[in-house]
Amino acid sequence: MTEIVVIVAIAKNNAIGKDNKIPWHIKEDFEHFKEKTMGFPCIMGDKTYESLPETAKPLPGRENIVLTLDKSFNPKGTTVFNDFEESINYVKEKKYEKAFIIGGATIYRLGMEIADTLELTIIEKDYEADTFYPEINFNDWKLIKKEDKEGKDINLGESVRFSFLTYKRKK
Ligand SMILES: NC(=O)c1ccc[n+]([C@@H]2O[C@H](COP(=O)([O-])OP(=O)(O)OC[C@H]3O[C@@H](n4cnc5c(N)ncnc54)[C@H](OP(=O)(O)O)[C@@H]3O)[C@@H](O)[C@H]2O)c1
Repeated sequence: MTEIVVIVAIAKNNAIGKDNKIPWHIKEDFEHFKEKTMGFPCIMGDKTYESLPETAKPLPGRENIVLTLDKSFNPKGTTVFNDFEESINYVKEKKYEKAFIIGGATIYRLGMEIADTLELTIIEKDYEADTFYPEINFNDWKLIKKEDKEGKDINLGESVRFSFLTYKRKK
């Protein structure tokens, strides 16, 4: 069975994006994302794909699965689906050990319904944003790991506290 994992960094006020970018730049969190997702397929909306830096587009070492309703969208090095369920069936048929749902808000909303695991980075600070993470019903999830961290937000030029949290869906 392919484990479906949602991975996201969320600010205290649920912010995840502004002007099609992640509002913060925390090196430790990018490294965490890379370490967790390396070798596994990453499912994302086309806006998230477009928001990746040119040097990381497509994300190296991972199958980049991009969702769009635009039938002509087919960037080099990506696998495109026009339907979320089809993308999930695809990673299961390919017998990947894990597949990551990497955003944005529209894809997280769908992903949360079916995910087995949540990998959350919670940043202990509010950020200005236009995109927010959907509400999480924590009654459905069991916390299995928490690591508290501190690092520099390069955008703000100041230190921020954040935690890496792993939740598994309750049976
Ligand atoms: N903090 C984090 O960890 C994190 C992670 C990822 C992204 N983000 C941020 O989130 C923001 C982008 O999120 P977003 O919600 O605006 O966009 P998104 O989810 O990345 O992409 C939305 C697009 O995906 C396509 N789509 C959505 N549902 C679909 C479905 N069921 N089937 C096929 N295609 C579907 C549509 O493309 P078409 O309109 O082309 O049909 C839709 O416009 C950015 O600011 C980004 O930086 C943050």
